[in-house]
Amino acid sequence: MNRPLSVPGLEEFVFDLEEVIKERRSTRMFLPDRPVPRRLVDEALALAIRAPSSSNIQPWHLVFASGAARDRLVVALLREAHGRPPRVPVLPPSFAHLRRHLGAQVYGSMGIAREDTDARRTAVLRNWEFFRAPLAGIVCMHRDLGCVDAIGVGMFLQTLLLALTARGLGTCVQVSIAGYPEIVHAQLAIPPEFSVLCGLAVGYPDPAFPANNLRIGRQPIDENVTFLDY
Ligand SMILES: Cc1cc2nc3c(=O)[nH]c(=O)nc-3n(C[C@H](O)[C@H](O)[C@H](O)COP(=O)(O)O)c2cc1C
Repeated sequence: MNRPLSVPGLEEFVFDLEEVIKERRSTRMFLPDRPVPRRLVDEALALAIRAPSSSNIQPWHLVFASGAARDRLVVALLREAHGRPPRVPVLPPSFAHLRRHLGAQVYGSMGIAREDTDARRTAVLRNWEFFRAPLAGIVCMHRDLGCVDAIGVGMFLQTLLLALTARGLGTCVQVSIAGYPEIVHAQLAIPPEFSVLCGLAVGYPDPAFPANNLRIGRQPIDENVTFLDY
């Protein structure tokens, strides 16, 4: 983040796109008492809605909860998470090694040993506290839409993450929140026609939490991209 650009009309610095892309990472511990200025979220949303979508239907639907609404949601989610596992999509076995590798990095950086199931559980439960973020987002899409529209939501979401990062905010996208959709629907009065895709924690990262500084690696590009005659 060392090459800020001053943009006329914006009071704050925004950052070079490549720097912001490299700077964004998942934050897993926020400063609970440092509120997120609404103006920054509004600015980020104004950029995120520039994302492309199939037939320009703009399939994203977001609900943000802070203050008492956020706290009520967290209490209800934690109560549920203590009672039963979340319903999250099963990962096919051929991808399981990637999740194991991620877990080793994330929990390792928190100083949690692989066999320390109690400490892991405590860390996992922080998902349903939105990692203590003061702003809890719920990312939804109309239930009648499909995969191609989920691409549009994803494009919106990454743009939103980058715009928030450029404003000094931390974020974490959370499928874990979608593991208890009925709780989220009930607590935030989300209409039934919207499916809960994931949560989005937003806040200022806790600088004292080592896992916030993790740089999760990526596979070599040729594992995922093929060029033919090029
Ligand atoms: C759709 C989606 C769902 C995710 N769900 C969770 C989650 O439930 N809990 C969590 O801690 N991280 C979650 N993440 C964050 C990923 O683990 C993270 O993006 C990935 O490991 C790469 O790390 P980075 O974001 O720090 O670059 C999710 C990310 C995405 C895009």
